[in-house]
Amino acid sequence: MKITIESSSCSGHARCAAAAPQLFRLDDDGYALPLDGDVPQGLEQAARDGATACPERAITVR
Ligand code: F3S
Repeated sequence: MKITIESSSCSGHARCAAAAPQLFRLDDDGYALPLDGDVPQGLEQAARDGATACPERAITVR
């Protein structure tokens, strides 16, 4: 499973980091930092939760 964060769609709501802080981190301005690589085993649901939490639909998991 991979996560893609569309940075141009991120408005800094920070709900992704609130829903799944083990995966999503924010930069100093409160925008989601890009994620590289595969979602670690056991964090698949956290990835989905973070994606669902984003009101801008900036996060996709596949
Ligand atoms: Fe950005 Fe959505 Fe997270 S707007 S900070 S990716 S909740």
